[in-house]
Amino acid sequence: MYKSKIIGMGYSVPENIISNNDLSKIMDTSDDWIQSRSGIKERRWATNDVSTSDLALEASRAAIKNSKINSSDIDMIIVGTLSSDYFFPGVSAQLQEKLNLKTIGAFDIKAACSAFIYSVSIADQFIKTGAANTVLVVGAETQTKLIEKSTKGRDVAVLFGDGAGAALLSRSNSESSILSTHLHSDGKHLKSLWMEAPGTSKDSWVNGSIDLSKFTPKMNGREVFRNAVTRFPEVINEALDANDLDINDIKFIVPHQANYRISEAIAKKLNIKMDKVISNIHKYGNTTAASIPIALAEALESNKISKGDIIILAAFGAGFTWASAAIRW
Ligand code: ACO
Repeated sequence: MYKSKIIGMGYSVPENIISNNDLSKIMDTSDDWIQSRSGIKERRWATNDVSTSDLALEASRAAIKNSKINSSDIDMIIVGTLSSDYFFPGVSAQLQEKLNLKTIGAFDIKAACSAFIYSVSIADQFIKTGAANTVLVVGAETQTKLIEKSTKGRDVAVLFGDGAGAALLSRSNSESSILSTHLHSDGKHLKSLWMEAPGTSKDSWVNGSIDLSKFTPKMNGREVFRNAVTRFPEVINEALDANDLDINDIKFIVPHQANYRISEAIAKKLNIKMDKVISNIHKYGNTTAASIPIALAEALESNKISKGDIIILAAFGAGFTWASAAIRW
């Protein structure tokens, strides 16, 4: 068995900044309500001329540059997204074309906020077995095009933002490597965080058409919160146990940026200080599949992570799905 490691990262966020006060002009909400419940001060909303594949492409180009490889070395593309440009095919095939790559395997993963770790895990398996050498893994969203931007949708609308992050994984010949990944799901919570349409469910279609209100995400915030604060620490502890590590061996936890209050609850349960938990939610909001690679790319950019550090990525989201990845840098 080989090992895999992350050799470069990049990210891209839309230019269009939306503050909490901007939101309060289009819906009944306030800066105070949003900050106290989520820690979010502003987020980026992609304008109509920017699609998920555009952000994914920019993030991928930055990751290729950062990793100092030739793009022709990439032999697989995996994109985590729930807001692909088209219902099908996925963003991965668009990247293959736009990056001018060979006819390599390319596919999308629809595991919502856990999609980046799911994708890293898949890339790791391909590299470990020798089936792939260099895999481009992307998390990208322009999901705010789908949200209800009015008081009716305010519980969801204030939390989400757009962006993309990309990582290149390659075979490792050193101690630096992905140490483990753990993936989970529990479909009984499907309707606690979901978007019903477009879809093929017989429940969605009445007399040959779908109710337009089903084309926006719906969330049971309390149910999400309750499950997230249990599953995050659980899957982080699973990563620690699998590698015979103690929480004190970990330099940083890089959680999916769901909500600052969720990150605080994770820190409390793990008995660690918040300075060990990477957070950028105040400026980007919750960017679903993109949040972990953006947070990790920014942490690397500011030299927070050094060679030999052990970090744990952790996610929880729609499905419900949750996952972790332990990485020695
Ligand atoms: N602005 C102002 N008021 C609002 C807003 C808003 N944007 N959204 C909802 N409200 C109102 C509700 O209508 C409700 O009003 P009512 O009492 O008159 O019925 C009231 O605020 C509810 O307030 P709270 O009881 O304080 O709400 P709660 O403490 O449940 O907080 C929240 C809501 C923030 C959604 C919370 O449940 C939460 O943090 N859940 C986790 C959700 C999350 O982080 N999702 C991220 C996406 S999922 C993921 O990435 C894992």
